[in-house]
Amino acid sequence: MLKIVWMNEQNYKSVAAIEARCFSQPWSERTFFEELSNPNAHTYLALDEGVPAGFLSVWEVCGEVSVNNIAVCEGSRRKGIARALLQAMLDELSAAQSVTLEVRKSNAAAIALYESFGFERVGERRDFYSHPTENALLYTKFLNGEN
Ligand SMILES: CC(C)(COP(=O)(O)OP(=O)(O)OC[C@H]1O[C@@H](n2cnc3c(N)ncnc32)[C@H](O)[C@@H]1OP(=O)(O)O)[C@@H](O)C(=O)NCCC(=O)NCCS
Repeated sequence: MLKIVWMNEQNYKSVAAIEARCFSQPWSERTFFEELSNPNAHTYLALDEGVPAGFLSVWEVCGEVSVNNIAVCEGSRRKGIARALLQAMLDELSAAQSVTLEVRKSNAAAIALYESFGFERVGERRDFYSHPTENALLYTKFLNGEN
């Protein structure tokens, strides 16, 4: 069974471990710990049969949500976990006006995920990423209270 929970003092190290496995320049364990006291931060952890399998980190400021990161462990992909994480966030932050994110231009899996949620491509940031250097595509989902 898949369960989405909030990140907390007991599980934040699991979130940091998934981040470290999935990204070349990961946020540290300490950064995730500090997120626990950030009132604008919302971090969701997916438990697949009780095992930490993915997470989503966003900030919400004045009705504008920005996605910091989403990742699912390699062995748990294509099971709807990222979809469930995004949906949990949209359900909780349904009063927000928009959700914005950057994604590597070559990241076909993430782009397909976002487009399936109705995110629209609104821009491109040159050389936004390093290790390796790559442009970012900017996507926004405009919310209308029916998410
Ligand atoms: C992108 C990522 C989070 C997707 O997680 P996931 O749990 O496998 O995604 P889901 O199973 O919920 O997939 C939902 C939809 O996204 C799209 N999608 C996901 N992975 C895909 C892939 N490899 N190729 C094409 N489409 C893909 C599909 O539309 C999919 O729906 P479907 O399975 O019904 O076709 C995961 O691949 C990942 O962690 N990648 C590494 C980290 C990363 O790049 N994060 C994004 C940073 S912007």
